[in-house]
Amino acid sequence: MTSRRDVRNPVQDYLERIVAACGGTAGEVAAYIPELAAADPDVFALALATVDGHVYSVGDADLRYSIQSISKPFTYALALDDLGVAEVDAHIDVEPSGEGFNQISLAADTGRPRNPMINAGAITAASLVAGEGPDEQFERIRRWYSSYADHDLALDEDIHRSELATAHRNRAIAHMLREFDMLGDDPEAALDLYVRQCSLSVDTRDLALMAATLANGGVNPRSGRRVSQVECVERVLSVMATCGMYDAAGDWISAVGMPAKSGVSGGIIAVLPGQVGLAVFSPRLDVHGNSARGVTVMERMSRDMEMHLM
Ligand code: DON
Repeated sequence: MTSRRDVRNPVQDYLERIVAACGGTAGEVAAYIPELAAADPDVFALALATVDGHVYSVGDADLRYSIQSISKPFTYALALDDLGVAEVDAHIDVEPSGEGFNQISLAADTGRPRNPMINAGAITAASLVAGEGPDEQFERIRRWYSSYADHDLALDEDIHRSELATAHRNRAIAHMLREFDMLGDDPEAALDLYVRQCSLSVDTRDLALMAATLANGGVNPRSGRRVSQVECVERVLSVMATCGMYDAAGDWISAVGMPAKSGVSGGIIAVLPGQVGLAVFSPRLDVHGNSARGVTVMERMSRDMEMHLM
């Protein structure tokens, strides 16, 4: 006889099977930020959050790490919410750059960054967030992400210090943006704000819920609170679909077919509008800076569950 305790949840079972089926040790942990180089390459987590507020997870799902570039769509959403689409568009374009995340990628004539998912566009988006000075801007960003995650997120000071000390390339990008009048007067403040947003600490369940809030049109499925306006979410998802996976964006959208964003600490989020937010974490990265095992898992899930939107 089957007792109630033997009845397994099919979603949970499926996630466990996927993790077992999609192993792999390809790729390298990011080393250009010293603190990231210390990550255990073999940790792994997968989480799925539904728009009605269920969150399933397997693996090291409570392990915390810095959000890195997965911050980019959320800060872009806040800038859109603060200033409106037209004003943000005047500073940041929405064209895929076809280049790596850390290329300068500014339009030759206007100096406008190609899109908000690469570093140049993300530094600009952070600087557009409303607030009296960088501390207030950062606090607004921190609270904004926290509303997406439905709990208070904190800064990882060690990552912040480590990245700021070695941010030569992003510093050059920030000064270039200042030269083209895309930032306010202080490129160092814009750089620090961007590095702080990248250093906010999350776990994989947080990321799945943040993705599910986008899937749910800007309403957090757990708190029931509206975080972003629908038109901002539509814009964010469009740019994630075309630019979120950098110079692998074409391969990603062909194979997985969902708006997504990756981060150099090893996370990837993907959004199936109206249904679920997915998050995967595995720190070994492929040549594009995307989690190698994360991409494999997402490809497999998209196929198995027919999540491809096209
Ligand atoms: O700008 C940087 O170097 C990092 N803080 C974020 C980069 C990142 O996550 C790129 N993602 N694959």
